[in-house]
Amino acid sequence: MTRPEHLDLPPLIGAAGSVQLPGSKSISNRVLLLAALAEGPVELPGLLDSDDTRVMLDALRLLGVRVEGRAGSADAPVVVHGCGARLARGPAELFLGNAGTAVRPLTAALAVLGGDYVLRGVPRMHERPIGDLVDALRAMGCAVDYLAQAGYPPLRIGSGHPRIDAPLRVRGDVSSQFLTALLLALPLLSAEADIEVQVEGTLISRPYVALTLALLERFGVQVRNHDWQRFVVPAGSRLRSPRRLQVEGDASSASYFLAAGALGGLHGQGGPVRVLGVDATSLQGDVQFARVLDSLGADIAWGEGWIEARGLRAGRERLAGGDIDCVAIPDAAMTLAVTALFADSPTLLRGIGSWRVKETDRIHAMRTELGKLGARVEAGEDWMRVWPLAEADWHGASIATYDDHRMAMCFSLASFGPADVRIEDPGCVGKTFPGYFEAFARVARPVPVLAIDGPTASGKGTLAARLAERLGWHVLDSGSLYRATALRALRLGVALDDEPRLTELARRLPVAWRDGAVLLDGADVSRELRSEQVGNAASAIAPLPRLREALLGLQRAQRRAPGLVADGRDMGTVVFPDARLKVFLVASARTRAERRVKQLISQGISTRLQDVLRDLESRDARDASRSVAAMAAAQDALPLDNAELDVDATVARVLQWWRERT
Ligand code: DC
Repeated sequence: MTRPEHLDLPPLIGAAGSVQLPGSKSISNRVLLLAALAEGPVELPGLLDSDDTRVMLDALRLLGVRVEGRAGSADAPVVVHGCGARLARGPAELFLGNAGTAVRPLTAALAVLGGDYVLRGVPRMHERPIGDLVDALRAMGCAVDYLAQAGYPPLRIGSGHPRIDAPLRVRGDVSSQFLTALLLALPLLSAEADIEVQVEGTLISRPYVALTLALLERFGVQVRNHDWQRFVVPAGSRLRSPRRLQVEGDASSASYFLAAGALGGLHGQGGPVRVLGVDATSLQGDVQFARVLDSLGADIAWGEGWIEARGLRAGRERLAGGDIDCVAIPDAAMTLAVTALFADSPTLLRGIGSWRVKETDRIHAMRTELGKLGARVEAGEDWMRVWPLAEADWHGASIATYDDHRMAMCFSLASFGPADVRIEDPGCVGKTFPGYFEAFARVARPVPVLAIDGPTASGKGTLAARLAERLGWHVLDSGSLYRATALRALRLGVALDDEPRLTELARRLPVAWRDGAVLLDGADVSRELRSEQVGNAASAIAPLPRLREALLGLQRAQRRAPGLVADGRDMGTVVFPDARLKVFLVASARTRAERRVKQLISQGISTRLQDVLRDLESRDARDASRSVAAMAAAQDALPLDNAELDVDATVARVLQWWRERT
């Protein structure tokens, strides 16, 4: 199946709703291995269905473990029939994708049991260090060899002679997964005597080790924790099936939704967004993210089985910045790097050294992509400082995701900014949350657009301006962009059929709006733009597809909170197909010609009805017959014939429709 190249996210004004979280990745892969190594069946409702759990399940099947049911299924949860220490001894080649939570624990378990195995993954997995774990395993007599670069997968595992007469040592300052891997495997060896593991260096990501200990306990093994530096697996420990283990929702995945609920507070849209599947009793360290968010000014509530973000606390207009120790929340900390753009002061994320060895070098990736949005970012070996981004400094950006699910997910929050956000390779979220963008779209509240399309002189401009005034929204007169491009072309002597040059002009159009006036190169050209000559030139260049494409970004960039009224020909069909209300004005050419004549006369321009009518009819024909974005009502547009209505009545009618819609 091909993955889509990119996903364009509309700018958001808020988020509301509830989200059933997928199962925790960290819990899922730990319990899959524990269940396989225990005796007897274990039912695992809530198990995550994603790339990382799929590679683990495939590996276990290859190792002879019987698995029934389907991950992610409510009716037929996965049941793993554990076979104790009696895994198939190979030869077997296990492909483990980019799942650190599969490679590390399987390496330890298979090395302890012995057999003939090759473990490999995607190219990035072969850049993620495993040397500290392999050193610890070799030191205890296991047979583990590197098949390519020393210190990294792929690995060959043979049959060694593991001894446990001396304490094991493992480094804890690069990844806590090495310690976790050992702790999960050691109950296979602890029948006779206590086994002690000593951690070298300061143990990072302690909550993940706490999670490992808590899950071992569910499988009947009580590891003694001596101040996170020494761990003892007691003699006589044996993995026993808990029969049934409900997998919690993923707390890291919860962070995006909670952040969205909080960021809605920027626009007074306090959600709430509720995540289902985690709560204060969660075993996962990343639930602490909710407390951090709370400490930064978000309004967070907790209940049984859920956490909720209700915007910002009373009196706050933005999140706070500050100095945040992220050692305990390494994954959710990425979410903070993006919410920091919306803070009132710089945010320092400390203790994020482990980002360097994750799915990608996340410090580099985060810094690069935040920079594309216009942010100021400083970073060191294990820290990053992110400055808030002022509204005027935001750039629309296409965000690269580095095959890293969390990059894709946390940058979805950038859509709370005032510029367009494109997420490249959005399918990479399949690693832990295949339905992420669908779930995000369900709670996201895009900046509302009211699209007014219709033929020339149908009163779109007046209607749009009046609606925007009444709603307190921004307004986009898209025709003025075609007219401004045409005016530049006329001034520069560019032929009206020279598509490449016209497209270039459109791409760099120095247009701005101020107090209802259109500025070109800083000068007010509002009056000139309305002339028949410029109007005809605009209509002549409007069919050029590449020119239309070039003006698309500029038009979409006008979609800013609290809302946009956009008028033109293709607002509801092409530019804002997700507009909440689409109105298509219809009025006979004669009615419109009469109006236009009155308008011109009031501006002191003399004209004749027949000329205006002929002009209008040929312009209509051209706008409606062109092959690209031809003027046509969107399927879901409401037609409005304003021939018999005055402006007030037309405005009232549309506002009435708007209220009915919302
Ligand atoms: O709405 P207007 O008369 O200012 O538009 C001028 C020309 O620009 C019109 O003849 C067609 C073109 N146009 C367009 O093709 N698409 C739009 N959304 C707006 C205007």
